[in-house]
Amino acid sequence: MSSKPIGIFDSGVGGTSIWNELHLRLPDENTLYLADSKNAPYGTKTEQEIIELSIKNTEYLISKDCKIIVVACNTATTNAIKILRETFNIPFIGIEPAIKPAALNTKTKAIGILATRGTLSSALFHKTTDLYSHNIQVIEQEGEGIVQLIESGKLESAEMTALLKLYLQPMIHANIDYLVLGCTHYPYLVPQLLQLLPEHVKIIDSGEAVARQTEAVLKEHNLLNNSNKKGRVLFYTNGDTQVITKLLGANHDISYLDF
Ligand code: SIN
Repeated sequence: MSSKPIGIFDSGVGGTSIWNELHLRLPDENTLYLADSKNAPYGTKTEQEIIELSIKNTEYLISKDCKIIVVACNTATTNAIKILRETFNIPFIGIEPAIKPAALNTKTKAIGILATRGTLSSALFHKTTDLYSHNIQVIEQEGEGIVQLIESGKLESAEMTALLKLYLQPMIHANIDYLVLGCTHYPYLVPQLLQLLPEHVKIIDSGEAVARQTEAVLKEHNLLNNSNKKGRVLFYTNGDTQVITKLLGANHDISYLDF
């Protein structure tokens, strides 16, 4: 049993989609979310830059006595989680695109993956895709510009609609029946994606799986908080606090932090 917080970090506000799932599954847990919006997007950075930022975020969360770190960013996971695990003596939960369920369940034998350049070009992503993509067509699409629009509060905008139409077009043309969201910012786009995709296309993200895995690892390390008290939730961002407020609502403790 431990009442120490779960630390969560992302390149910005997108990882709050993971926090939503975590908080739903583990409401008693104290959570501390760090949004490195000042440095978003990570998806266009070099592997070395992503590693350095991930280390900085982890050091901050450890300095706040976190008991486990959830890397709520596909780009940081695919590029940095191995080094984080080698560097710090604390359990890490990473997030990878849910390619496996899409590849195993597709009937049209075509699936789409929308992710950042940093994720699509990583060795870990290639390893997973190669493992599950025999006999199916995988349409990989970089979501260039999407994270920037979400980080600047333009989740619903004409620019976003134009980008989504452009990125979905080759997938629709290939008759995909699964769209895998490979970036934690993208679940906030689901209502718009559903409007643009044919009805038979299912959208999958990794949020629920990450929450389940976090619970399992906390249990394994005897670190679950069984206090039966609602957990304390803190959000820190080095960007505009209003962007998180707009996504999650005003009833949260969201502070600016210069880090
Ligand atoms: C980014 O910062 O480019 C996106 C974060 C992610 O991959 O989840």
